[in-house]
Amino acid sequence: MFDTADLRHLPKTELYEELPRQLDGLLHGERDLVANLANAAALIFQSLPDLNWAGFYLMKDGELVLGPFQGRTACVRIAVGQGVCGTAVAEKRSQLVADVHAFPGHIACDTASAAELVVPLIVDGEVKGVLDLDSPTPARFDVTDQAGCERLVEVLLRHVTL
Ligand code: SME
Repeated sequence: MFDTADLRHLPKTELYEELPRQLDGLLHGERDLVANLANAAALIFQSLPDLNWAGFYLMKDGELVLGPFQGRTACVRIAVGQGVCGTAVAEKRSQLVADVHAFPGHIACDTASAAELVVPLIVDGEVKGVLDLDSPTPARFDVTDQAGCERLVEVLLRHVTL
C-alpha cells in the first residue's frame, strides 16, 4: 500500500507539487476505474484543507452520474449545462466559483457548501466526467488550486480508461 503523508500543512504551491506525485504513486500499477477514482477522491479529500466534498461525476448516456467521492451523500444525476458541474461539461473548462449562491443554477447537494471548483476530465477532446471539490468557506479556491487540480486530473487520466 502506497503511504500517503499528510500534506495539509504545506504551503499551497508545495502542496500542489507534492500531491500529483502522491497521486501518481497511489495509482501506479492499477487500472481499475472505480478503485482509482475512489483512491483519488480519498487522497484529495484528505490532502486539501477545508473541503466538505471531493469526488467525481462521470458522463453516462449524455448526463453526469455520481461516481466515487468523499463527503455527504450527493445528487446522482446532473444534466449537461446544469449547475457548476454541468456547466464545466458544456463549456469544456474548469469552473472556479467563489460563491455558489451567486452561481445561476447551482445544485446544492450539501447546504454547507459555499465555494466550488470543478475540473472536467477531457479525453481526445470529449468530456468524460468531472472532478468536483466543495468547501464550506467562501472563495476557498483560487487560480493556484485550479491549476493544481487540473494537474491532478492530468495525472489521474494517465491511470484510468474513460
Ligand atoms: N454543486 C454541484 C453539484 C454536485 S455537489 O456539489 C456534490 C453543481 O452545482 O453542479
